[in-house]
Amino acid sequence: MNNDNPFSFLLPFPEVIPSRIDRHIKRHLSALKGQFFDTQAYDLLLSQQDQLIYEVYEIHRPEVAGELLLGISIVHPGKVGVEFFMTKGHFHTVLDTAEIYYVLKGEGFMVMETPEGNCAIEKLSPGRVLYVPPRWAHRSVCTSRQEDLVTFFAYPANAGHDYGTIEQRGFRKLILENKNGIEIIDNPNWLK
Ligand code: F6R
Ligand code: ZN
Repeated sequence: MNNDNPFSFLLPFPEVIPSRIDRHIKRHLSALKGQFFDTQAYDLLLSQQDQLIYEVYEIHRPEVAGELLLGISIVHPGKVGVEFFMTKGHFHTVLDTAEIYYVLKGEGFMVMETPEGNCAIEKLSPGRVLYVPPRWAHRSVCTSRQEDLVTFFAYPANAGHDYGTIEQRGFRKLILENKNGIEIIDNPNWLK
């Protein structure tokens, strides 16, 4: 396809798998080592099966300023101990780049924080649009019991992904389920 020609594609309901896919990324439980706070529950679950936690369908574009990368992110339902399945989460390498999400299916939260220590959590539910401003790391968390959390995203194609910062220190907030329902707690393992 000529890079300079406009194009369109479909997100057909109910499965919302794009009609055009250039790259399909699958992340299993083993890719999230060190991210769930209950390490015993993590090790036990991993010893049973390296489950698929989330998938991304990307439409590829040149990774240069001026272009947008877009696609669909699907976080499957489930928990590690009391903590809901989630994406690894990242800062953009070019920190001054934003991202936009549109929720197609499912329920959950976007957990966000800045390098300066500001935290924000936004509810994700069908029809909601989320704007992640420049500098905010972001992680999607699926809190549906049975349904996938499906979002459409778009962000500057030169943004890049810094996974290492979050891998080392985690996010400051965690989303858990307790007997009263969904709970947001401070991450006891967060490393300053
Ligand atoms: C891209 C972006 C999303 C995520 C996707 C998977 O900048 O934020 O497309 O890449 O939700 O999450 P990660 O990249 O954290 O594994
Ligand atoms: Zn991003």
